[in-house]
Amino acid sequence: MSLAPRRRLVVLISGGGSNLQAFLDAARDPRYPCEVVAVISNRAGVFGLERAARAGIPAEVLDHTTFPSREAFDAALAERIDAHGPDLVILAGFMRILTPGFVRRYAGRLLNIHPSLLPKYPGLHTHQRAIDAGDTEAGATVHLVTEELDGGPHILQARVPVLAGDTADTLAARILVQEHRIYPEAAKLLALRGTNEPGA
Ligand code: GAR
Repeated sequence: MSLAPRRRLVVLISGGGSNLQAFLDAARDPRYPCEVVAVISNRAGVFGLERAARAGIPAEVLDHTTFPSREAFDAALAERIDAHGPDLVILAGFMRILTPGFVRRYAGRLLNIHPSLLPKYPGLHTHQRAIDAGDTEAGATVHLVTEELDGGPHILQARVPVLAGDTADTLAARILVQEHRIYPEAAKLLALRGTNEPGA
């Protein structure tokens, strides 16, 4: 049986890259319809870069602090991304607000994971905000990126309970397990949708 060509993922990170690892692990199965072709970090020395190196995936650093403006950084970033010919661009803990031009360039193929049950708690400190609000459940959302911060159409969501005595860290750890499950699954859904569309 010949498998369809895999969709090319460029993964953008800023930190530990555990979600990147979830994609690297998923792609070890040849039936998974996507492969990670490159990793780009806006911070040097983060563990996600080590994960890419261990998997033999090209990884590079593009340090946002060396650019005069957000627009200049995003233009350079787009150039680096496009050099890898991606089908999907995956934001995996990429802690940057993106310019409208960048978001439009990748419209429909730019994915983000956010650690809350969006539309609740866009932005930062999601876990603490859920605890402070007395929520009984929390979770994560994979969504397409639009110009509205954490506001694009949802692809998948996962829910977890908030337990008595939870701290932001314990809740984050419980959610992260679910992030690693739904993020590769969401990319798979988009990849298969792409191949099933007439004329795609
Ligand atoms: C994840 O929890 C992800 O949902 C979150 O950063 C963490 C990255 O972890 N993203 C955001 O908060 C985006 N607004 P990782 O580097 O181990 O994948």
